[in-house]
Amino acid sequence: MKIVVIGGTGLIGSNLVKKLRGHGHDAVPASPDTGVNTLTGEGLTEALEGASVVVDVSNSPSFEDTAVLEFFGTSTRNILDAEAATGVGHHVALSVVGTERLAESGYMEAKRVQEKLIKSSGIPYSIVHATQFFEFATRIADDATDGDTVRVPPVMIQPMAADDVAAAVCDVTLAPPLTDTIEVAGPEPLRFEDFVRQGLRAGDKRVVVVDPEARYFGARLSERSLLPGDGARLAETRFDDWLSRQAPGR
Ligand SMILES: NC(=O)c1ccc[n+]([C@@H]2O[C@H](COP(=O)([O-])OP(=O)(O)OC[C@H]3O[C@@H](n4cnc5c(N)ncnc54)[C@H](OP(=O)(O)O)[C@@H]3O)[C@@H](O)[C@H]2O)c1
Repeated sequence: MKIVVIGGTGLIGSNLVKKLRGHGHDAVPASPDTGVNTLTGEGLTEALEGASVVVDVSNSPSFEDTAVLEFFGTSTRNILDAEAATGVGHHVALSVVGTERLAESGYMEAKRVQEKLIKSSGIPYSIVHATQFFEFATRIADDATDGDTVRVPPVMIQPMAADDVAAAVCDVTLAPPLTDTIEVAGPEPLRFEDFVRQGLRAGDKRVVVVDPEARYFGARLSERSLLPGDGARLAETRFDDWLSRQAPGR
């Protein structure tokens, strides 16, 4: 089966392409690096010719509110139009657990727009909501940094390894369309501050403190807003085990 992976050169996308090829499929990465730009539409329809499934694991280069909204709105419209024109039968997209709850976040608003466009497109779809990736801890810290201090809210998080995210998206891609959203998450809830503190690279001198006023990419969080619901598929890799496998001084 020909499967086009939009964002197939990124963290999740490159791993997913490998996994799909490992299952014997013709997985084609599509991104500006491979001559496909979903924002301008360049190379998109040609890339989708003959594809049975399109998986969108792209991400906006900028998380600034207007830029991210423009990215997910315009790109998703262009992808869905190209799918309709070429007869693609399954659109798979990766989004974030809690997207519907984090009203104040510009990033989550953009993901909500992406999901709404998919659901109203008429193309059979599957949406995978994943929790934060272990690999994303430093990016979270960077956004929450004030001088040498990282301010995080007093909440829980249930992060997961990018490799487990790619495996879950691979399973969904190779199954019939769900016409629904499923949640995937790490095996255990952690304190947000412990996750960020342990996720900082060796030698990072920043101090992580809990601050009830701290926000997550602009959103106020409650204790459980980042946690998945009861029916979530839980991945196996624990954060401690993942950390112990990282290169020293990463
Ligand atoms: N980070 C988290 O914790 C988390 C949690 C849950 C869900 N997610 C979702 O996971 C998805 C993938 O994240 P990621 O970290 O794997 O992303 P990433 O590593 O930043 O990769 C982004 C990909 O998007 C491509 N891209 C950028 N602009 C494009 C354009 N105009 N046209 C086509 N492709 C374009 C990039 O291509 P180039 O390499 O050519 O620039 C790259 O392949 C995102 O949708 C995100 O919302 C993330």
